[in-house]
Order: sequence, then structure tokens, then C-alpha cells
Amino acid sequence: MKTDFIRKPLHLPSEDWIQDQLAFQGGPSVIPEDVRKTNFPIITKEDVIQMFVSIQQNGEDVVEEFKEAYRNYVGANYAIATASGTSSLHLALVGVGVQPGDEVIVPAFTFIATAQAVVAAKAIPIFVDIDPITYCLDPAKAELAITSKTKAIMPVHVHGLPADLSALRQLTDKYSLRLVEDASHAHSASIHGKLAGSIGDGAGQSLMADKNFPVGGEGGIAFFKEKEDYNRALAFLDSSGIDYSMSWIAAAFGLSQLDRLPYYDAIRARNAAYLTNALSETKLFSGPYVPEGYKHSYNMYRVKLHPERHGLQDLEDFRIKDAVQQLINSEGVYAREWQNVPIPGHLPFQNRKGFGKGYPFTLSDRTDFGYDVALFPETLKMLRNSLTICRELRTPIEFERIQAYALAFKKIDANPHIIRELVERGGDLKAPYERDARLG
Ligand SMILES: Cc1ncc(COP(=O)(O)O)c(C=O)c1O
Repeated sequence: MKTDFIRKPLHLPSEDWIQDQLAFQGGPSVIPEDVRKTNFPIITKEDVIQMFVSIQQNGEDVVEEFKEAYRNYVGANYAIATASGTSSLHLALVGVGVQPGDEVIVPAFTFIATAQAVVAAKAIPIFVDIDPITYCLDPAKAELAITSKTKAIMPVHVHGLPADLSALRQLTDKYSLRLVEDASHAHSASIHGKLAGSIGDGAGQSLMADKNFPVGGEGGIAFFKEKEDYNRALAFLDSSGIDYSMSWIAAAFGLSQLDRLPYYDAIRARNAAYLTNALSETKLFSGPYVPEGYKHSYNMYRVKLHPERHGLQDLEDFRIKDAVQQLINSEGVYAREWQNVPIPGHLPFQNRKGFGKGYPFTLSDRTDFGYDVALFPETLKMLRNSLTICRELRTPIEFERIQAYALAFKKIDANPHIIRELVERGGDLKAPYERDARLG
């Protein structure tokens, strides 16, 4: 039988490992190959028992029970459980009143689904650059992008850090717009105790298997503050006949996972704090910034590189990033790019075929949609000078493993001359956004 049970314990980490030769050069890797596996989502007997209990019930009741339990947890007024995060965002947009041809402001750095949900609502995504510290939508730049066609602003809580919703709320109040959260990375994340998903007028959230709160396979949920918006979303489903329903199997899995979510969140937070503290003891690396009163949920963990602190500033930053990626990967830490091209640079926005014959882009009288990636310098810089740890920190990993990750970064930090050698050896490397866009 094939199971996901991890059969090999990790070695107890030791500071001496920092002095070892780099694995890339033939030394021992901090995390040997046979103990690199991490598991996510965690499936326990509670999940299986919940399935057996739920199969005795009417499927719609299981979905309703799940939706109510999670809506309560988030503190949202109204919710619709959906088949995916993308469909939840589509419903949230339609619910808050986005109409064909409207413009919706979204960040240039996110997953493509944020912008495609706008297209699904037959509206035009207008991309705005990110704040260089938080990597979330920059409210000052968002204000500059507002036109008479703008209907909504949809920030993304990138990697799990809530976007600056109070600044964005000021904008939506000032210009009579709607605020919709893409909370797909931000389960249990909060601002001053208010959970992501409950703050905007509407919100969409993915619950797919790679998210902090997975319902097993695909799933999502839309949240609404006002009954009128919730009713508009329901009426859209009713009148269009579009079936975005969540499956009862996903809902059953979600019910038992929800019980354990606070436990997993606590381990993720502990591990992230440990790693951020360890990176602050290096010159080359730093962890994510979290503003006062904000709770990050660490669906992903972005590590920023500071080559100038090692006198490497004469080298191109993306080449340094690539060298570091090779070195850290061979130590057994799978840090990588997550996104390599700003979303407006992806083909659906470059060619604007939309649903066919250019619809809904043809509803706009713009000649320039602002989809040139050069318009997003902060996103480009971030793509050049940072790496992301995804699944490996999302999963509630053992304390020894997070200690080993920290040691691996410290080991690389102790070898800046090898980074220089690797970069100077060169090779045919393009900046991330000069390569074909990847989805994740
Ligand atoms: C920021 C963001 N928004 C939306 C989505 C879409 O979610 P789904 O894949 O469940 O449709 C994702 C999925 O990864 C995402 O990362």
C-alpha cells in the first residue's frame, strides 16, 4: 500500500553544519535526499470518519454545514461555498455589482486567477504595481489608476500577508468604489483581529489542496458584508444557470480540517518566526515584513536577498538569485521562483482574446490597457531579488526541519565567494520576466 507516512526521522541539527563544504561542491547536504519529503494536506482518521458520517447525509446539507462553520470562523456576514477560488472571486465581483465593461484594479503580482476572475465577470483588469516591502497592492499607485470606469479594487493578501485594507478602504470611500479581497493565501490572516475575507465588501478565497485550509481537491468560498450583494450573487447563479457548487466530499473534508486549522496555523507561525529570526542573523537574507497588528498566514514564505551586504552589488541581482537557488536547493531546501512574470505579461492579457473576438476587452474604449510589464518596476525588482518557499513551510513541519532550513541559509551566507564564482562563471541566463510566463 502506498501511504504518505514519513518513515525516516531527520538528524538533530547542529551549528557545525554551517562550516561543512557546500553540497553543491560535493559536501554533505543539510537535509539529505531521503528525508526531504514533507506532506500536505495532512489527512487523518478524523477526515476519513467525517466522510463516513457525511455520506449518510444529504450532500447539500453537508455543504451548508461546512459553509456556516467556516463563515462563522471568518466572521463574515454572508457566504457562498463554491467549486474553486476562481469561481468565488467571480461571484464576489458580480455580487458587489461589477458589470460588463467596468474596470477592476488588481495587483500586477498575484496568481493569474485574480485577474481572470475579473474577465469572467466581463470586466477589465487594470494592473497596479506592488509595495516593495509588503509585496501587496500599493494604495498610492491604485489611486492613480482610478478612472470613471473603475467599479472595484481587488487587493490580494499576497503569500498570506493582508494588504493595506484601511488605505484601500479610504480610496473606495473617496471614489464610491467597492472593495473585494482575494483572500486565497490568507486563511486565518488578520488585521487587528479581523480575519481576511470579512473586511472587504466582498471576498473570494480558494480552498484548493495547496492552500493553508484545503478542502481536498478544489473548492472555494465567497464572502459578502451586505445582504444585497449576497443576494445579487445568488441571483446571478440562479439566472445564469452556472453551477459553481462545492462538492459534498470537499465540504466534508473541510469540516474536519477546520477543527485542526488553528493548530496548523500555530505551527506555521512558529516555524516562520523561527526562520525569520535566523535569517536576520545572516547578511544575505531577510524574511517577510509584517506590519504591527497584522497576522501573516504564511501560505508562502518569500526570502529577500541583499547582495550589497556581502559586497556583491556589482553582479546582476537575478544571477545572484539563480546562484543562491542552485546552492540552497542542493542543501535540500526547495526555495524557488513563485511567478516569474507580472500577470499583465501573461498571454491572456497580451493577446486579449478574452471569451473570443476580444470580449470583454472590446467593451473598453482604451487603446492602452497598461499591460506592458515595464510599468511594474517593483514587481520586476521583487522577481529578480527574492525566492519563495512554498509547500515546505505551509505544511506543519517538524521543529528539526525548520532548524535545518535555517542552517542551510546560514551555510550559503557563509560562502559569498562561491556565489560570486557561480555568477562570474556566467551562462546564458535571462531575467525571470524575460522568460516565458509560468503559472506558479
Ligand atoms: C491569489 C490567488 N487567487 C486565486 C486563486 C484561484 O484559486 P483556485 O485555483 O482554487 O481557482 C489562487 C490559486 O492558487 C491564488 O493563488
